[in-house]
Amino acid sequence: MIKFLDLQQMNKQYSNELKAACSRVIDSGWYIMGEELIEFEENFAEYCGAKYCIGVGNGLDALTLTLRAWKELGRLQDGDEVIVQANTYIASVLAISEVNLKPILIDPNEFTLNLDPEVVKQHITSKTKAILPVHLYGLISPMKELMEIASEYDLLVLEDCAQAHGASIEGKKVGSWGDAAGFSFYPGKNLGALGDAGAITTNDAVLANMLKMLRNYGSLEKYKHNVKGVNSRLDEIQAAMLNVKLKYLDREIETRRDVAQYYRQKIKNSKVTFQAWDEKESHVFHLFTIQTVERNLLAKYLEENGVQCQIHYPISIKNQGAYLELLENICPITERVNNNILSLPINSALNQSELVRIVDLINSWDF
Ligand SMILES: Cc1ncc(COP(=O)(O)O)c(C=O)c1O
Repeated sequence: MIKFLDLQQMNKQYSNELKAACSRVIDSGWYIMGEELIEFEENFAEYCGAKYCIGVGNGLDALTLTLRAWKELGRLQDGDEVIVQANTYIASVLAISEVNLKPILIDPNEFTLNLDPEVVKQHITSKTKAILPVHLYGLISPMKELMEIASEYDLLVLEDCAQAHGASIEGKKVGSWGDAAGFSFYPGKNLGALGDAGAITTNDAVLANMLKMLRNYGSLEKYKHNVKGVNSRLDEIQAAMLNVKLKYLDREIETRRDVAQYYRQKIKNSKVTFQAWDEKESHVFHLFTIQTVERNLLAKYLEENGVQCQIHYPISIKNQGAYLELLENICPITERVNNNILSLPINSALNQSELVRIVDLINSWDF
C-alpha cells in the first residue's frame, strides 16, 4: 500500500537530530517558555520575513488568539464580519466564531481554490472588518490584490498559513503580507512538530505584545495579569523539534514541488483537472489535489489498487452540524469542489516507482 502520508518514514530522515534535541531539553530541566522557544521564534520570524513570531499551542489558537488580541486592542468588536473562503478547513471558521465575530463564507476562485479578490469586494459591507485568506493546500492567496482591497476599505488581514509555510510571491513569503498570520505545526504539516504546536507572525509590536500576554494567562510578569488570557504555549520539546525541522523545510518543499511537477506533467486523463498555480514559488504543495466528477469511484479504484488518498474536505462547513446558522451562505463552487476533490500522496518519503504507479493508475482509469 502506498500510504497517503508516512510520518514515521519522513521523520526518520531527521531521527538522530530529533533525538539529540529531545535529550538536550530533558537534560536542561526547563520545559516551558525557555531557550528553544526563543530560538524558534527568532528563526521562524526571520524565515517568514516578519519582525515577530509568537509560539502558541496549535494553529487554531494562533488564529483565535490573534482575533482576540485585536478585540482587546479595540480594533474589532463583537459581531464584526470576517470574510473567509467557504472551502477551507473548519479551524479557520472556528477561530472567527469563537471570539463572537461573524464568519462570512464566500466561494473561492474555481481554478485556484483560494479567495478571489473580485468576489471579496462584492461581499464587503459596513460591518466587514477583516479578511481571512487561507493559503489553501499550500498555494499563496493573491495577496497584493487582497492587501489593496484591505487598505481601500480599512480591513484587517489575518493570513491562515497552516498549509503554506514558505510559499511566496516575488520572494515575499506567507506570514509577512497580512497584519498577522497564523501557522500550524501539526505533525502532518510541511513543517510539523511531533505533537501540537502553532505560531503567529506579525510586524506589529503592539499586537505581538498582546499575544505574548494572551497565550500565557494574560501575563508577561509572573502573577501580574493584565488581560483574561489562556494557556496556549509552544513547549520546549516541540520548539526543539521545530528548530531541527525548520532547517530542512526548504528541502521538503523542493521535493514536494518535484513530485507536483511530475504529477502535473504525467497525469493525462481528460476526466481529471488540477488546482491552478503559476509561479513555482507560489505553491508548497502541502496537498496535491485533483478534481473529477466521479471522485468516489476514483478514490475507490486507487484504494483497491494500493494507493491511499484523502479528501480535503468531504463536507462543506455550512453543511456541518456545528454551523447550521451558516446554511444561508450560498457557495456552489465550494459544494462542487467538496464532491469532486481528491488529494494524492505527496511528501519526501515517496519514491519514483510509487509515483510512476500512481500516475499509471490514474491514466488508465475510466468510468
Ligand atoms: C487551513 C487550516 N487552518 C487552521 C488549522 C488548525 O491547525 P491546528 O490543527 O494546529 O490547530 C488547520 C489544521 O489542519 C488548517 O488546515
